[in-house]
Order: sequence, then C-alpha cells, then structure tokens
Amino acid sequence: MTTQLRTDAEPARAPLAERALSSRVRAVPPSGIRRFFDILATMDDVISLGVGEPDFDTPPGIVEAGIRSLRSGRTHYTSNYGTIELRRALAAHLERRYGVAYDPAREMLVTVGASEAVDLALRATCDPGDEVILHEPSYVAYAPAVTFSGGTVRYVSTRIEDDFALDPDAVEAAITPATKALFLGYPCNPTGAVLPDDVQDALAEIAVRHDLLVYADEIYDRLAYGSYRHRALSALPGMRERTILIGGFSKAYAMTGWRVGYLAAPAGILEGIVKVHQYGIMSAPTVAQDAALEALLNGEADVERMRAEYDRRRRTFVDGLNALGLRTFEPRGAFYAFPEVTSATGLASERFAELLLEEERVAVVPGSAFGPSGEGHVRACYATSYEQLEAALARIGRFVDRHRAA
Ligand SMILES: Cc1ncc(COP(=O)(O)O)c(C=O)c1O
Repeated sequence: MTTQLRTDAEPARAPLAERALSSRVRAVPPSGIRRFFDILATMDDVISLGVGEPDFDTPPGIVEAGIRSLRSGRTHYTSNYGTIELRRALAAHLERRYGVAYDPAREMLVTVGASEAVDLALRATCDPGDEVILHEPSYVAYAPAVTFSGGTVRYVSTRIEDDFALDPDAVEAAITPATKALFLGYPCNPTGAVLPDDVQDALAEIAVRHDLLVYADEIYDRLAYGSYRHRALSALPGMRERTILIGGFSKAYAMTGWRVGYLAAPAGILEGIVKVHQYGIMSAPTVAQDAALEALLNGEADVERMRAEYDRRRRTFVDGLNALGLRTFEPRGAFYAFPEVTSATGLASERFAELLLEEERVAVVPGSAFGPSGEGHVRACYATSYEQLEAALARIGRFVDRHRAA
C-alpha cells in the first residue's frame, strides 16, 4: 500500500463535519417548528395545540388485540408486504367505502405509518430533475420528501380568501415538460380544507390529460365534517392506474404510537415501492399490524365517537377564534384550525407563536412552517379536551387584547 503525502499545492479540504452531509440533505432547511418544541419541552402548565395527534388513547379493543398478538408469540417479521389478513381487510375497506378495488396480494403494502408511505412513494418514483406539483400550505414532510428523493417541488399556493381551495387552473399553469407528478394531501393538514367533488374531478381530468402520476395522502379521510363526504381519488375515472394512495391508522383510530399505515397502487408501481421498503424497513411492526386489523374489523363505532367529538370541539373552537377577531376558515376535515393572526395583532406567524407560548403558555405552530402562504397564520390542533380548548381560547383572547394592532 502506498501512502500519498499531501503537498503544499493541494487545497485544504473542509473538515469532514462540513462535507459529510449530502447536498440533498443540506438543501432541506431545519424544521421551522423544532426550535419551538424545544422551548415547549422546558415549560410547565402549557396547553398544547401544537402536535397533530388525537388526545384519545387507542380504543381498548384495539389495545387488547395488540396484547393478544404479543402473548400468542407473534413477535416475528411478517411478509414484506404486511400480513395478508390486514391487506385483505384494507382492500375490502377501500372497496366498501370508496368503490375502488385493489388486489391484496400485489397492490397493498403495510408501512410504518403514512410517513413511511410518503417517503417510499417519492423515493420509488422520482428521478433527479422530476418536478412534483404540491399545494401549500401543506404537511411539513411533503416538500422534504420530494427533495430527499431527488425531485423538485413546484408549489401552488392556496389562500384564506378562497377558503384554501386548490385552483385546478393554477395547478395546470404549474405544469412544465419536467412535471412528473401531482401531490394532493386532502383533507389538508394544516388548513382543514377538503377537495370539493368538482375540484377533485377537474384535478383528475388534468392528471389524465397530462399523464401525471398522483400521490394522494388521504390519512384524514375519516375525519370529515358537515356535508363533506370523502371520495378516494383513485376511484375517479382514469385515476386508479396513476394514483399512489396513502393512508394510515394514526389519526382516525388514535394510533399514532403504533406506527402503522398503508399504501395502495397498481401492481407494477407497488412492486418497485416494495423494493425500497424491503431493503429499508423489512416489515411494519407485527403487533401494530395485528392491532390495525382489529381497528378495521371492529373499530367503526370508536371512529365515529371520536369524529363526533372532534366536530363538537371544531365548532366551538373555530367560532371562538373568529369571535376574538382572528379570522378562521371553517375546516371541513382533519383536526386543525388555521387562524389568520397578523391582521389582528401585527405579529408575524413565528413571533405570534413564540409570544403566545411565552406569555400565555399556549402552544400553536407558526403557519410559515407549512409553506410561504402559511405566513400570517398559525395552526392549532383541536384534538384536545373541550375544557382545554375553552381555557386556550380564554388565554388567546387575553393575548390578542394585549397585542391588538392599532
Ligand atoms: C397529512 C399527514 N400525512 C401523514 C402523516 C403521518 O402520519 P403517520 O403517523 O401515519 O406516520 C401526518 C401526521 O401528522 C399528516 O398530518
């Protein structure tokens, strides 16, 4: 082995710590909400409307199924695709609810939360240079997942003036020869907006006409309010063959800690996605898959009980925010309110969230974390007790009075 001596002519290399990270990772800014949650962790007596998860514990029948699974020795890997029982139940569930048929053997994959499904869908399908059209404000993980996969995000903005509706014409105008896919996360985190049927039809027609792939994150499909009825995008004409449907158990079944979600796609696409999953993950936790099966088979009454309670909180909370002078669009899905705070207080999103936490001990997330059009808003999750929401409204009211813009 020869050792090369460095000559004075060679340029000094940057320290490894500065060179180690890939350009893809460096291209993603640190999470806009991390600093915030670090402060939160050091405080007592905080009402947290920050984290997007149900305050309910997992319903007892589902927990019991998990315990039975462990006690009966189901402590081993499953098929890479997930247990066939869960995949069959998922396929039956999607067919019954939305009228779209998937083959449980070749078109359904059980994942580690919808989070893994989002990551897999992008990594399996994006090449460098591919553009993905993404509405914003939208869930914080979407844009980084596109960047990590090598793709490029093209944002289409939505605004409170239009009730955060996604405009199909704006989507079409964003299409370029490099556009590979359209990402739709509806019902939407953080705005609570949904896709009305006519908008969904128009988007599907655009996807078909431009031959686009569509990622549809429908994890909030069961949390729908008022007259809104969710339709799976893949059930629309021409969509099944081009849609990667993403769903999960975290929200509707209050199962965030179990880490189980799913993905459904045509066999040719799913086969590639499974490659990424099999080498990176192997299989989703067996105990969580068994609990998820119980959720699908017997959890319907629990879903409806929790949904009805979110609906009651939603109406009180949204009315309360509007009464304080914080203009809030009526969310039709998920469990978030997205009030516009800058007009009333003169404070930008991040400053509002920081001061509200410091002065009144209420945690919300700055809207700017979800995309440029989120500036001026904050996200408040109303999946917390009615009493806590009323206390939060009183504290926010005091805060707004103190900071009311001249
Ligand atoms: C829109 C959306 N998609 C996916 C996820 C991830 O969910 P999971 O717990 O299934 O990974 C979340 C969680 O907040 C979400 O809001």
